[in-house]
Amino acid sequence: MKYKITVLAGDGIGPEVMEQGLKVLNATAKKFNFEIETENALIGAVAIDQTGNPLPDESIESCKKADAILLGAVGHPKYDNDPTAKVRPEQGLLKLRKSLGLFANIRPVSTYEILYDASPIKTERIKGVDFVVFRELTGGIYFGDKGTSEDGQSAYDTSTYTVAEIDRITRLAFDTALQRKKKVCLVDKANVVETSRLWRKTVGEIAKEAKYAEIELENMFVDNAAMQLIQWPTQFDVILTENMFGDIITDEASVIPGSMGLLPSASVGSELALFEPIHGSYPQAAGKNIANPFAMVLSIAMMLEHLKQFEAAQAIKKAVDTALNSGVATEDISKENAKSTTEVGEWLTEFILKN
Ligand code: IPM
Ligand code: MN
Repeated sequence: MKYKITVLAGDGIGPEVMEQGLKVLNATAKKFNFEIETENALIGAVAIDQTGNPLPDESIESCKKADAILLGAVGHPKYDNDPTAKVRPEQGLLKLRKSLGLFANIRPVSTYEILYDASPIKTERIKGVDFVVFRELTGGIYFGDKGTSEDGQSAYDTSTYTVAEIDRITRLAFDTALQRKKKVCLVDKANVVETSRLWRKTVGEIAKEAKYAEIELENMFVDNAAMQLIQWPTQFDVILTENMFGDIITDEASVIPGSMGLLPSASVGSELALFEPIHGSYPQAAGKNIANPFAMVLSIAMMLEHLKQFEAAQAIKKAVDTALNSGVATEDISKENAKSTTEVGEWLTEFILKN
């Protein structure tokens, strides 16, 4: 079996964590007898620097031909504080999601016993946390009509959702819930926002279908959900939400395990799928060989599950678990005796090849 993977290393720490991720991926390929063929493509600030375009057409073409896509990170501080910038690295990511039809962003959150103390939240609250957020990714306020008035005195963004857009991600979330604890929490702002009311109605109707009879559907306002995630995170199993709310609550959720550098994600459409760590480009750490490669490596494990290489995915997860339990980690986790990004990558690679 041979898989074509498009690699979008991107900005900041993206290329460094990607390098280690690919090392680990190649080790699993060797061990479990499949082949990986990678093609590098440009996205983000590096793409702007080289071509003036945050997502050149060749990158989209490469992704469309791939069996899966890996992304490092996108973003550069030189654009962040410049409201006049005409092109931004993030536009590349949004265009990528839209043009590849990646409508569902799946972000699993679980805790590791060894890191309980690293979490800002009390251990008793985070013990056993294990939930997954399904964030809608190609609709809502991110992609609605927007603009600024000529005199610069007002600006607007609009949020639109169609029943079809809500329907397809809801089914994905429900199908996943059936394999888990069969609990879905729809996070919205239906007391204020019209699109949220459409979400509630649409999701509520799907929940009545016979095949989803076992699903227990709960509705929660996003402000309350923001609080509950910290106060009682173990109550959640599958969270389903729109684009903007999902963006915000997944950053919030990412602090639960103790390091944002641990969380992987998948962005899936009906044909293509992309895998990326949820941390950003972390420019302060770029080039220092200190970035945590676990989230990238775990994103690769999610990719292997998607490609049905379950043993390889399992081997990666076991390697990461063992590394964490043996104190093999970068400085965000291992305060004393921190390892470099490269050292962690090499440790994982060797572990996979030897076990
Ligand atoms: C994310 C990021 C992106 C988003 C940015 C970089 C456009 O924050 O993947 O969560 O807002 O979706
Ligand atoms: Mn985000």
